[in-house]
Amino acid sequence: MIEVPVKLGPKSYNIFIENQLISLIPTILKKEVSPKNIIIISQDIILKNYGKQLLDNLSNNSLKCEIITISNSENAKSLNEYQKVIKQLFDFKCDRSSIILALGGGVVGDLAGFVASTFMRGIKYYQIPTTLLSMVDSSIGGKTGINTKQGKNLIGSYHQPKAVFIDPYLLKSLPIEEVYSGLGEIVKYGFIYNMQFLEKMVPPNQGAVVVVVAEHKLKYKSIVQGMGNKIAPHAFAKETVFVSSREKAQAYLQQHYAIVFDDVVLK
Ligand SMILES: NC(=O)c1ccc[n+]([C@@H]2O[C@H](COP(=O)([O-])OP(=O)(O)OC[C@H]3O[C@@H](n4cnc5c(N)ncnc54)[C@H](O)[C@@H]3O)[C@@H](O)[C@H]2O)c1
Repeated sequence: MIEVPVKLGPKSYNIFIENQLISLIPTILKKEVSPKNIIIISQDIILKNYGKQLLDNLSNNSLKCEIITISNSENAKSLNEYQKVIKQLFDFKCDRSSIILALGGGVVGDLAGFVASTFMRGIKYYQIPTTLLSMVDSSIGGKTGINTKQGKNLIGSYHQPKAVFIDPYLLKSLPIEEVYSGLGEIVKYGFIYNMQFLEKMVPPNQGAVVVVVAEHKLKYKSIVQGMGNKIAPHAFAKETVFVSSREKAQAYLQQHYAIVFDDVVLK
């Protein structure tokens, strides 16, 4: 298992990375805490795929837990949903010793983290990211938040998780467009911070990176623009191809290069 320490003095924690880590989480949890009440915050689709496995593993380790299901979209990051979750924590008789497991993508992580940071002035929580984006970005760093009608993430806090459990196996069920969304974020890190990192992910002169960025050009417009003065996409890739759909991007890649997107991520 890979363990990456996040060094933040008394708020330090570990990021654990391992395929099938979901089965090991209860053992790690038991070493770290002895919680009276464990609350899993998640969404239907994720619970359908992995909920039973996580629950069984917890109960086989004599850990009692309850589930709170939030809605399956960005709408979950609202004051209304926040209030509903807090009410359920009281219904489950949670107290300061209770812990929260955020099983989901950035939406679940942001809401669950905000709940954890405010319930009884702050309780422990653990991130179990299930999207590529949340594995490489939102589950790490302790930023939590909800949206208001004035804008996104305008109410929030910094509350570091006690650990982050990254299990690439959970990406198996992730819709392909969400995989691209995460890839876009990884590509962004590469362009902003470290070109060698980018080259590790996709060998140079293969063009795949540019196609991915191009496909998400609305969402990631700022990346392409931001690179203007530093490094243009075509300086890195063999050629720049703008395509209007994922299918066209895939068809182009398959026709010209021996690369399939899924391989890039899930290998
Ligand atoms: N806190 C931070 O530092 C930070 C950083 C970046 C983004 N964010 C926030 O993250 C949110 C976006 O997160 P996201 O991109 O992970 O999207 P998301 O959490 O909305 O997940 C996308 C969709 O995939 C589904 N899903 C998640 N995991 C799945 C799985 N394994 N199998 C099948 N379906 C699955 C979800 O139910 C949802 O419908 C935004 O609200 C953004 O503001 C926060």
